[in-house]
Amino acid sequence: MPPEAIADPHAFVAGNSVLQSAPLVPEIMLHLADERAPLWTKTQRDLWDDGIVLPYWAFAWAGGQALARLLLDEPDRVRGKRVVDFASGSAIAAIAAMKAGAVSVLAADIDPLAATAARMNASANGVAVETCTDDLVGTPLDAWDVIIAGDICYEQSVAERVGDWLQAEAHAGRDVLIGDPGRTFLPRTHLEPVIGYSVKSSRELDDTDVRNARVWRFGGN
Ligand SMILES: C[S@@+](CC[C@H](N)C(=O)[O-])C[C@H]1O[C@@H](n2cnc3c(N)ncnc32)[C@H](O)[C@@H]1O
Repeated sequence: MPPEAIADPHAFVAGNSVLQSAPLVPEIMLHLADERAPLWTKTQRDLWDDGIVLPYWAFAWAGGQALARLLLDEPDRVRGKRVVDFASGSAIAAIAAMKAGAVSVLAADIDPLAATAARMNASANGVAVETCTDDLVGTPLDAWDVIIAGDICYEQSVAERVGDWLQAEAHAGRDVLIGDPGRTFLPRTHLEPVIGYSVKSSRELDDTDVRNARVWRFGGN
């Protein structure tokens, strides 16, 4: 059913997930779907034809894992800073930023269930994140220092919308980091490679056992 039709989003997330960590980020527990809570296949099989939003929040995508790993290993990138996790999904990167010492993190995702999952996941890790379901694309994020975005180029339409906006944000002085598992639609111009990781994946979700994920940084000019 559509996210807005779910009477108790907290119970829906809890009932369709198992608290567990993602392979690259064992420090962070998340409410994720797996064979014990097969939400993804259930959604694709039963609901896709009805135009239902897929439960992206129920998976730790390789791009988000790469970002989270980088922030936990190099906390100075966000320590003392105000961070936006754009298209946050489970909020794995947002939670990593808080654990790394960010002053505040806004987990922004247009899926209301992602906002619920983000708050539940943050709580499970002893941190708090703010959430927002507004579409921020095109909005100047003047009140923040760092923008992180995991696996945002999974669809051409999304990739095309965010590229110019994030570049403009980098021009305006924000540090903009993207975690990406080699998506075709990643706008590679203006991006500098930061670090790469091999991320264990699943054939069911990703059609491969391992993804090579990379963190990129938008150049500021
Ligand atoms: C592949 S998931 C990545 C989630 C998370 N960043 C990660 O790496 O695990 C993509 C997410 O982008 C979100 N999304 C798509 N368009 C968006 C927009 N305009 N603003 C905010 N979130 C958006 C979707 O709802 C989905 O949760």
